[in-house]
Amino acid sequence: MIQQNGGMDTPTVRQKAAITVGRDVWHTEALPALGIRSIELADGPHGLRQQAAGDGDNLGIGDSVPATCFPPAAGLASSWNPELVERIGRALGDECRVAGVDVLLGPGVNIKRSPLCGRNFEYFSEDPLLSGRLGAAWVHGIQSRGVGASVKHFAANNQETARMTVSADVDEATLRELYLPAFEHIVTTEHPRTVMCSYNRVNGIPAAEHHWLLTDVLRTEWGFTGAVVSDWGAVEHRAAALAAGTDLEMPGPQPGSVDDVVAAVERGDLPEGVLDATVARLAALAAHPASPLDSFDADAHHALARDAAAESIVLLRNEGGILPLDPARPVAVIGEFARTPRYQGAGSSQVVPTRLDNTLDAIRAIAPTEFAGGDDPGEAVALAARSETAILFVGLPPEDESEGYDRTHLDLPAAQLELISAVAAANPRTIVVLSNGGVVTLEPWHDSVPAIVEGWLLGQAGGGAVAELLFGLREPRGRLAESIPFRLQDTPAFLNFPGANDHVLYGERIFVGYRYYETVGVAVRYPFGHGLSYTTFDYGDLVASRTAARVTVTNTGARPGREVVQVYVSAPDASRPRRELRGFATLDLDPGESRTVDIPLDARSFAHWDDDGWAEIPGDHRVEIGRSSHDIVLTGVVRIRGPRRKPLTLDSRLSDFLDNPVIGPILRAASSGAVEGGTNLLDMVASVPLSRLARFPGAGRQLSRLGLLLPVANNRVIRFFAALLAPRRAKLRTT
Ligand code: BGC
Repeated sequence: MIQQNGGMDTPTVRQKAAITVGRDVWHTEALPALGIRSIELADGPHGLRQQAAGDGDNLGIGDSVPATCFPPAAGLASSWNPELVERIGRALGDECRVAGVDVLLGPGVNIKRSPLCGRNFEYFSEDPLLSGRLGAAWVHGIQSRGVGASVKHFAANNQETARMTVSADVDEATLRELYLPAFEHIVTTEHPRTVMCSYNRVNGIPAAEHHWLLTDVLRTEWGFTGAVVSDWGAVEHRAAALAAGTDLEMPGPQPGSVDDVVAAVERGDLPEGVLDATVARLAALAAHPASPLDSFDADAHHALARDAAAESIVLLRNEGGILPLDPARPVAVIGEFARTPRYQGAGSSQVVPTRLDNTLDAIRAIAPTEFAGGDDPGEAVALAARSETAILFVGLPPEDESEGYDRTHLDLPAAQLELISAVAAANPRTIVVLSNGGVVTLEPWHDSVPAIVEGWLLGQAGGGAVAELLFGLREPRGRLAESIPFRLQDTPAFLNFPGANDHVLYGERIFVGYRYYETVGVAVRYPFGHGLSYTTFDYGDLVASRTAARVTVTNTGARPGREVVQVYVSAPDASRPRRELRGFATLDLDPGESRTVDIPLDARSFAHWDDDGWAEIPGDHRVEIGRSSHDIVLTGVVRIRGPRRKPLTLDSRLSDFLDNPVIGPILRAASSGAVEGGTNLLDMVASVPLSRLARFPGAGRQLSRLGLLLPVANNRVIRFFAALLAPRRAKLRTT
C-alpha cells in the first residue's frame, strides 16, 4: 500500500522491507515508488555463470550461457600480475554487459588457511597483500566497465566443512593482520559496489548478523558505501542481519524475512532509519546500470584467457635445463589430463566455456607426438621407454576438490602415483605437468623426475599455454602464491582444521603459510614466491627506506624473462613472523637488460595490530628482497623510532616500570645491591603488577610512591594530543 505524501509516493515499511530480499535466485525486487529497478547478480569469479530464467540454482548444476572461462584464482594468482587481472576484470565486465548482468559475484579473497579447503581454487593466496592487490585489480577492471563486483566471502570463511554453521574462533589481531586486509585494501581503494558476507560465524556471531564486521569495521572504519549482499542462504534472522548491516538477502523470495523486518520495525526493535539506510544503499546499487553491449569478442577473450593461463603456470623444477623442449624432437604425451583437461573447479563458479583447448592437440601442432592415456599403465610405460622424452599429465580428479567440502589429504590418487613411478623409471627424461586447484604434495616422487610444471586449473585456454611453455614459445613467468608443503602434518592449521562441534579455532593465529614455515623453520618442498624461468636474474643496489625498497634487477641469461621482485619485512620482535610480504613488482627483462624499481612500502609494512590499533614496531626492521619467501638475496635495514608504550598505571607490572625510560633508571638505582642468593630481587618480582606488589608487607609504602611519578612517565600532555589525533576504532566483540 503506497501512502500519499505531498504528491510523492511514500513506500510503506513492508514495501521497503520487500526489496531487502531477493525476488528470485538471481534478481532483486524493484520498488517503483522510489524508482528502484530490479538488478541481476550472477556468479563469478573466473567467468560469467548466467543461468536462464527459471533455471536458477547456485550449485553449478544447471546450465548457464557460454562464457569465457578464465583461469580460476589459484592459477591466476601465480601471475602476481595485477595488470593482467585487471584486463580479465574488464573482459568479464564486457561479458556481463552483453548478458545484462549488473553484479558479478567475485572476487573471492579469503586466505588459504589450510591447503585442504575445498574452495582454495577460487581463492588467490595464503598472503593478504597479494590477495588484496589482485582482488583490487579484478574489481577495478570490472567496475571500469560499469558492472559491480561483490567481494567475497566476508569474513574468515576458510573452509567448506560445516560452512553454514561453523564459528571461526579468531582473535582480533589475527583478523586485522591476516583475514581482513585483502577486503580492506579492495574496499578502501576500489569501492566495490557490493561485499558478500559469508556463511560462517565469526566468534560465535553469524557473519550476516555481525555488526562489528559489517558496520563498525566495513562501513565506519573503511568507509564502505556499497551494499552488503548475503551469501546465498546465509541469513537466518532477517531483521537481525539487517540491523547488523546486511542490506540484501539472497536468494528470494522469503516472505518470512519480509515479515520479520516489518515486525521488528513495528516493535521498535529495528529503527526505521536503519531500514531506510539499507533502502538507500540498494537504490544506489540499482541506480547506475552498465551501458549495454551487443556482443563481446569471444576470440579476443579466448586469447586473453590463454595469455592469463601462460602467466599462471609455475615452473617448479627444471634439472639440467631439460625444458624448454626442442620442437624438432618427438615426444611421448601420457595421461588423460592432456586430452581431457581439468580447467576449473566444481560448484557455484562453474562456467560453461565458449570453447575448450586441450594440451595434446596443442603439442601435436608443435612437435612430433605419440600419446597414451595412462589408463593402461603397460601401454604408457612402453611408450615412455621407447621415447626420448615423456611428458606426463597428472592431477586431482574433479571429485577431489569442490565447493561444499574440504579435502582430507594432499596426495595425488594412488593410481597416478603408481603411473608417475612407472613412467619415471622407464624414462629419465620425464616431465610432470600437474592439474590441481588446491596444492598437492610432490612426494614421494619429486626427485625421480627432472622437471615439474604446476599447471593449476588454467581455464578454457590452458591447453595451448602449457604446450607453448613446454617448447619455449612462452617463458615461464608464474610464482607460487602458496607454499607447497612436504606433508599435511607440516601445515600450520593441521591441529585445528576443520575443527569440531561447529567451532574451528584459529590457534595458529597469523602464522599461516610461509609466515609459519619461515618462523618455525619447517622445511617445505617449494616456498611461497618460488618459480623458475628459462633465464637467470641478478639483484643489486638495494636502497631501503620507510617508503620504498629500490633495487636493480638484471637479466643475466640468454632468453627474455619475467622476474617477480618480492619485498619482505622482518620485524625486530621475536613474537612476529620471521618475514612478511610487504610489496612486489613484476619486471619483464630482455637478455642483458637491467631495470631499477621502486617498490612502495607504507606505515603498515612496519606495524602490527595491538589493542589500540595499528602500531609501528620500534627498532631495526630488515627489508629483504627475495626470489621467494625462503630465498633472500639482498637485505637492508629501516629503523623505526619508538617508543611504543602503553601508559603506565598502578596495575602495570613492575617490568613495565623497569622498561620505562623515566622510572626504570630510578628504580634500578634505588634497588642496586638488592641481591639475594645471587638473584636480583627486582627481576624475581618483575612480572607482578605494582598494585599487588604493594600488598606485600614492607614493599607497600615505598612502591606506592612510584604512583607519584606516573604523570611524568606517561608524558600525559603528549599522550593527550596524540589520542585526539588517533582514529577511533571499535573493539571486536566476542561471545
Ligand atoms: C557461494 C557463493 C556464490 C553463491 C551464489 C554460494 O553457495 O558460496 O560464492 O556466489 O552461492 O551462487
